[in-house]
Amino acid sequence: EAGALWGGRFASGPSPELLALSKSTQFDWQLWPYDIAGSRAHAKALAAAGYLTKAELVSMSSAFDHLAEAIESGEFVAEEGDEDVHSALERGLIIQAGSDLGGKLRAGRSRNDQIATLVRLYLLDHGREIAHLVIQLIDAIASQAAAHPNAPMPGRTHLQHAQPVLLSHHLLAHSWPLVRDLERLRDWSVRASASPYGAGALAGSSLGLDPALVARELGLGGGPMPNSIDATASRDVVAEFAFITSMIGINLSRFAEEIIVWATREFGFVKLHDGYSTGSSIMPQKKNPDIAELARGKSGRLIGNLAGLLATLKGLPLAYNRDLQEDKEPVFDSVEQLEVLLPAFTGMVASLTFNTERLAELAPLGFSLATDVAEWLVKQGVPFRDAHEISGDLVRFCEERGLELHEPTDEQLASVSPLLTADVRAVVTVAGSIASRDGVGGTAGTRVAEQLASLTQQVRAL
Ligand code: ARG
Repeated sequence: EAGALWGGRFASGPSPELLALSKSTQFDWQLWPYDIAGSRAHAKALAAAGYLTKAELVSMSSAFDHLAEAIESGEFVAEEGDEDVHSALERGLIIQAGSDLGGKLRAGRSRNDQIATLVRLYLLDHGREIAHLVIQLIDAIASQAAAHPNAPMPGRTHLQHAQPVLLSHHLLAHSWPLVRDLERLRDWSVRASASPYGAGALAGSSLGLDPALVARELGLGGGPMPNSIDATASRDVVAEFAFITSMIGINLSRFAEEIIVWATREFGFVKLHDGYSTGSSIMPQKKNPDIAELARGKSGRLIGNLAGLLATLKGLPLAYNRDLQEDKEPVFDSVEQLEVLLPAFTGMVASLTFNTERLAELAPLGFSLATDVAEWLVKQGVPFRDAHEISGDLVRFCEERGLELHEPTDEQLASVSPLLTADVRAVVTVAGSIASRDGVGGTAGTRVAEQLASLTQQVRAL
């Protein structure tokens, strides 16, 4: 019967319009394994407090076994009249255990503390899965870096040639934000592991149930939450998760944007593997970076999920309000999007082929070694302000004559400034420039090798 969890004080059942609006089984059904886990733990707490006999607990436990089997086999499904997964599963329990026993389970709990707990369990599981997928992506980036230890490329700021860097250094720059995302997931999981179960509707339980037992049974190491109102009304843990998934999406998107540009004819830095690119239905020659584009596109969607959730929370009075039912679809969607995007993105990165010849050719162009000239002058005792000026003069001199920085003759160098002796030529090379940037975190090969080792070690330790 519709409204089965709360029909008592109502003379009529819910209208079909209300049911259609309030129903959440179409998306919260996937919480069923967590709902049953919560119910099993709650049954133990009821038994420990004397509300269920040992025999009843055993019967209830086997009723849950049968219910889970019936769900897995598709024999038990949500019905039109089930408001949410919790109502549906209580109906299912009563089918298995009878209403005398099944009807005892709800004592001392509310859907408010239930749902607040279940969403944490769901997010903790998927947080681990996402972390695992992020690690695979980091590994793919690290392997590409390791495969190109000494290949130079044009480093850019403002998308303009800036200074030459190692391709491996640039690639690894995309891995560190992902490492921080892993750290965020780890830090978040500590907060997410507090247990709302036992908070009841909002005020706590009067039945002397042990919420620590429930938390333990559910593997929620943070133990019961200290405030029952907060426990049922807060969703900051959900919003924080949505932020982390957005940040992962944004980090993929920035990498994606580069891959898209790199794969253009004009750049020609990379070739996408056929298995990780798409064609056109009309233009036979096309090879499109759709995975990267979907990463860029989906990151907008992930941000939208976070923004929508924050908007739902803003201005909500304590404690539980039905608005909170709107917390789930956005994060479920963020999880689903990342779980399908990350493996494809990892495959694309792992199978990129870099045109290292072209990268090397472009590395010194655009006067990207001008800073090296200025720093060489500083090493000769010239103040940087003057060195910057002289190097700038040399750039202008070359630009006017269509030369690159290493091309002027000794006489031409001297005509720009007597301080520019032939020795400067030694630093005006891509390899020399890169090798000289050997401070911590710099692009010198030795430092990048160190970086790669430390990345691998940090990811293993997470
Ligand atoms: N389905 C609800 C949710 O997802 C939980 C039910 C609480 N309903 C209520 N009327 N108190 O948040």
